[in-house]
Amino acid sequence: MDYTAAKTLLERHGQTQLLDYFGELDEKQRSQLLSDIEKIDFSVLSYIGGNSNKRRGKITPAPAVSAEEIQKNRGKYESAGIELLRQNKVAAVLLAGGQGSRLGFDGPKGMFDIGVTHPLSIFGQQMNNIFEVTKKTGEFFHLFIMTGAQNDEVTRKFFKDNSYFGYPEQKIHFYIQSVAPTCDFKGKIYLDTKSRVSFAPNGNGGWYSSLIDSGMGEIINKEGVEWINIYSVDNVLQRICDPAFIGATALSNCACGAKVVKKVAPEEKVGILCYEDGKPSIIEYYDADDEMKNQRDADGQLTYRYGVTLNYLFRVADLNAALDAKLPYHDAQKAIAHMDKGVRVTPKEPCGFKFETLVVDMVKFMNGCLGYEVVREREFAPIKNATGNDSVETARELLKLNGVKL
Ligand code: UTP
Repeated sequence: MDYTAAKTLLERHGQTQLLDYFGELDEKQRSQLLSDIEKIDFSVLSYIGGNSNKRRGKITPAPAVSAEEIQKNRGKYESAGIELLRQNKVAAVLLAGGQGSRLGFDGPKGMFDIGVTHPLSIFGQQMNNIFEVTKKTGEFFHLFIMTGAQNDEVTRKFFKDNSYFGYPEQKIHFYIQSVAPTCDFKGKIYLDTKSRVSFAPNGNGGWYSSLIDSGMGEIINKEGVEWINIYSVDNVLQRICDPAFIGATALSNCACGAKVVKKVAPEEKVGILCYEDGKPSIIEYYDADDEMKNQRDADGQLTYRYGVTLNYLFRVADLNAALDAKLPYHDAQKAIAHMDKGVRVTPKEPCGFKFETLVVDMVKFMNGCLGYEVVREREFAPIKNATGNDSVETARELLKLNGVKL
């Protein structure tokens, strides 16, 4: 794209501020900026104001297979799952492309050291959890790690320096997720530097399209992978490729499964599993109104009691069919470094929007979703914040409870 084409494009979208410093740039910087401008997806700006968050259908409660039922059927579920794992029909995707801004750690969240008397990274702890499964099955599944452009190199290096935590290197595959432009509250796209447009990871909803775009689909096809288990980096008790979960979902004929916990309180900050117009759906906590959060059944239990833990199993055939379904973007208010009157500023408070698609929005494109209730103390220890709720402290306590030496 040349300067004239870029100017015409930006005029059409009211974004000519991106060329403010063009006259000060050398040739290399100019071509960098023009190439960034060419990559901008302007359509994300139409999501400012939360138009993706509006309720689109009738919301009703969704059931889940309870922890007690799972316990009763564990043998049956586990052997079905182990069989699929032994046939290499299951792979996992670690979502590690986020920026972890709430934790305030300067590096990929997975590298955060949760150890007390010895070093133990979040990545390391999750790999230890994986070994519990591979010991049972005697097989190593393909593990895809989605990074963001900002943390890809350092994440790869960390795995390499740690000898992939003992996992076979040829079964670990890194890929980078796509990005979206950031903007101020008026919708003006930011420059990160005089010669670079400000882009941020476009949310965890893009995990499958980015996997396909990166060429990893070939591995999935070649190996005949039928199910993909995706999980977030921040839960240190994450059970990855849990055979019982895989077996229960496969036997249920649902196209996906979601590990859920019973919410501890109406206002707990977890997405809520429900039905929307009779189809499986997840409403994020910030989109659920008070009535929905507080509604109770006759026995006193919360009507919408199942919170998702960001551990899902998706059937590949259904993912392929849903690939063209365009997920909505959510506008998130964030502090974003940007150029301001010739100077690069790094605000501490939100100054504009980042745009993210969410994995929760994929669920409604699936033909059935099995809610699978797990025991919170055994499987849910998210690290979102440095202190307080869902923090390093609470996660350490839960790890100790599960016999992990810190
Ligand atoms: P969060 O929603 O907690 O976002 O991610 P975050 O960016 O890590 O943290 P904050 O909000 O800035 O504090 C949930 C999971 O989704 C992944 C994260 O790495 C985490 O595993 N994620 C999030 C991505 O892979 N890509 C993204 O663009 C966003």
